Amino acid sequence: MNRVQQHLGTKYPIVQSPMSWIARSPLASAVSNAGGMGIIESGSGESEQIRDEIFKMKDLTDKPFGVNLALLFMRDESMLDNVIEAGVKFVTTSAGSPKKFIGRLKEHGVVVYHAVPTVEMALKAQGAGVDGLIVEGAEGGGFKNPEEVALTVLLQAIRDKCDLPMIAAGGIVDGRGMAAAFAAGAEGIQMGTRFVSSVESPVHDNFKNAIVGSSETGTIYLNRKGSPGLRALKTDHSLHMAETEETDRAVLFQGGAKGLYFEGDMNSSIALAGQGAGMITGVKSAQDIIEDTVREYFEICADMAERAQQGSF
Ligand SMILES: Cc1cc2nc3c(=O)[nH]c(=O)nc-3n(C[C@H](O)[C@H](O)[C@H](O)COP(=O)(O)O)c2cc1C
Repeated sequence: MNRVQQHLGTKYPIVQSPMSWIARSPLASAVSNAGGMGIIESGSGESEQIRDEIFKMKDLTDKPFGVNLALLFMRDESMLDNVIEAGVKFVTTSAGSPKKFIGRLKEHGVVVYHAVPTVEMALKAQGAGVDGLIVEGAEGGGFKNPEEVALTVLLQAIRDKCDLPMIAAGGIVDGRGMAAAFAAGAEGIQMGTRFVSSVESPVHDNFKNAIVGSSETGTIYLNRKGSPGLRALKTDHSLHMAETEETDRAVLFQGGAKGLYFEGDMNSSIALAGQGAGMITGVKSAQDIIEDTVREYFEICADMAERAQQGSF
């Protein structure tokens, strides 16, 4: 069993990304019940609902699940209190420094992985005492570092400098991506866009179908000169933003997201998605996504191991 599996306590080292409003109990419990690590988001800032979602998970699954702490949006320690009270044992942190909260989480036996987009941030997270890293390549959907580093480069570059266990995120939608990430040093994967387009994802069919209908060039990197950068599907709205270099913070911080996610108005906000959308060909259940990924991963590993044994490529 590898280090990520030991930390997660799940059947498979496959994590579902935190995604504001999307990563709630229906999706997260489906992922946990299928043997992956379901994560409840906190980036939406809807503290009361998020607390309810964390406790709902205890009724919906008897398997491990985790919570993401979006540090930038945490005004106090109430989300930490919820995590500890609910007995959650796995937390990912993103958008900020985890330093302030590590001590309390560790005291309660919580495993903490921090999301990092560069080697420098990985070393800072290591210094703060995290247990592992979510290594976020620029291919992925959502908020992005202005310095774009592709996942394969980032995994190798971080592994050269630090030995913390790595969960690879960005552009992975199947077992091929998982095998590639493991070859570059990862011991687990995290998928966002793949789970947005799952049966159990709460988003409108328009969003799921737009992901399925997308190609590998179907996303755009927005707000390249500012912070945060964002990767999203090419829509009339996002193309207009790119063209006018609009950096309206309300829009960047997902104003109108509910209209897009739940009413299917693809131009009411930015449709966050990663380049992996181009390889997603259908809406599948969380269980099928996980099982297909694991099967493909083992098929690829077995094939490569056989060829390696024969000294052939
Ligand atoms: C629709 C969507 C919403 C996201 N929202 C968040 C968020 O609220 N907080 C966060 O830390 N990451 C967010 N992300 C980024 C994911 O956590 C993850 O890093 C990314 O999805 C991985 O790349 P992939 O989409 O190619 O799998 C979001 C991604 C997507 C696609």
